[in-house]
Amino acid sequence: MYITMVSAECAPVAKAGGLGDFVHGLARELLARGHEVEVILPKYDVLRYGQIEGLRKEVRDLWVPFHAEWLHCDVECGEVDGIRCWFVDPHSPQSFFARGAIYGEPDDAVRFAFFCRAALEFLVKSGRQPDLIHCHDWQTGLVPVLLWEMYQGLGLTHPRVCYTLHNLGYQGVTDIGVLHQVGLDPRRLMTPDRLSDPANPRAVNLMKGGIVYANFVTTVSPRYAWEIQDSAQGMGLQAVLRSHAGKFSGVLNGIDYATWNPALDRHIAQSYGPESLPGKARNKAELRRRLGLREAAKPLVAVVSRLDGQKGLDLLRHGLSYALAQGCQAVLLGSAQDPAVDAAFRRFKHENEGNPDCHLELAYDEELAHQIYAGADIILIPSVYEPCGLTQMIAMKYGVVPVVRRVGGLADTVFDANFSDKPFGERNGYVFDHLTPEGLESALSRAVGLWFQHPEYFRELRLNGMRVDYSWARPAERYLDIYQRMRA
Ligand code: ADP
Ligand code: GLC
Repeated sequence: MYITMVSAECAPVAKAGGLGDFVHGLARELLARGHEVEVILPKYDVLRYGQIEGLRKEVRDLWVPFHAEWLHCDVECGEVDGIRCWFVDPHSPQSFFARGAIYGEPDDAVRFAFFCRAALEFLVKSGRQPDLIHCHDWQTGLVPVLLWEMYQGLGLTHPRVCYTLHNLGYQGVTDIGVLHQVGLDPRRLMTPDRLSDPANPRAVNLMKGGIVYANFVTTVSPRYAWEIQDSAQGMGLQAVLRSHAGKFSGVLNGIDYATWNPALDRHIAQSYGPESLPGKARNKAELRRRLGLREAAKPLVAVVSRLDGQKGLDLLRHGLSYALAQGCQAVLLGSAQDPAVDAAFRRFKHENEGNPDCHLELAYDEELAHQIYAGADIILIPSVYEPCGLTQMIAMKYGVVPVVRRVGGLADTVFDANFSDKPFGERNGYVFDHLTPEGLESALSRAVGLWFQHPEYFRELRLNGMRVDYSWARPAERYLDIYQRMRA
């Protein structure tokens, strides 16, 4: 099959969170199975250029209609980890993708709406006819809309569109002006069964457009698929999802075991696996050295997270403080987009300054993330909602025991050591329900207690997590089934 992904992120060149990992991991697995795969991305100024091989300008004269003008774009091509990527580079006066960050600009909706139109213009002008276009989240919700409303008529007649929802917390609800700008007719599209936002019918909801117009819609875990149709987790899109339930399903994400594997990881001090678990101790010592933590017989409790309301910010802070009070060491690697959240965590860091058992790193740091997974004993994920969550799956591969709230993909992947109905060999972490300090403590205290009192069982729990197969093999098969059904 010939599959074109259109996405705002692809690891490692453009990654803000799990979306980047998803696009990279699924693309690599499909390539390994002999399919033709390419990814279209914006050419951000913040791309990690060192990770792109053979970057070259392939198209110099792509003119993209935008509002009352035509914007001149170059399209560059390069390989990222063996994946052919196309980078759309508009020479717009607004410098759409030269903003020093992937997201967080006041005109995000306009920037990504333009990107959708440019991606389709590129496909049509270069004579491409992929079997499948796979797009992701609100940023590319207009791709299926533009395809069926406009680009089919311009010759892009072959592709079918799969649309994956990674996060209903961001839907791209914006002013209808954006439709004019990409050449769509608001009078036709701003209806309850098309793009008008359920809560504010005068605003356009770009994610809803993707859901309505795509041939098939997926989300990133079975549990989240249910939650967003059934509860407030749908954030206003419950009814839309239910009315399209016939073309909607939840597919649990995978992780790329070439990137996330302690036996192969180039970023860590000592490689290890289930058969060589003692190797993990050297990574813990190395992590302590790097972060200035003292050597002590203490479990290391870690957080690696975007610092966003979704992640349970109060409970993250509470969990780390509680861990310290229970005689653990605490490490956080977190990046906040919201200045108020950043400030709150800087205060928290300040309060813990000088504590030889605590290190808080407020940054985005890919290498340190690998080293934390390799060195930590327990990882804390008290999310308010979690569509899938890759962090717990990565952590388990590195022998870190997850303590998670039972929501979304966390509920589908972490099974409580004491209370799960699974056989012991399939239990791999600690789970709590209530989004309260007491809820979190009920799970974290059991994890810490096991580390101190029954290290042999703690080791078994680590091994259970390391043995689970969360590779892309199974999810890629599910996606190929879905693609084939769409083509049939
Ligand atoms: P989300 O996509 O909601 O952020 P996921 O658990 O699906 O959550 O994926 C998070 C990904 O981003 C993981 O690969 C994790 O290691 C990485 N990550 C999160 N925060 C940071 C950070 N501050 N520095 C480096 N990597 C991070
Ligand atoms: C989103 C979700 C996360 C998911 C990731 C990849 O960022 O917040 O739960 O794992 O997308 O699908």
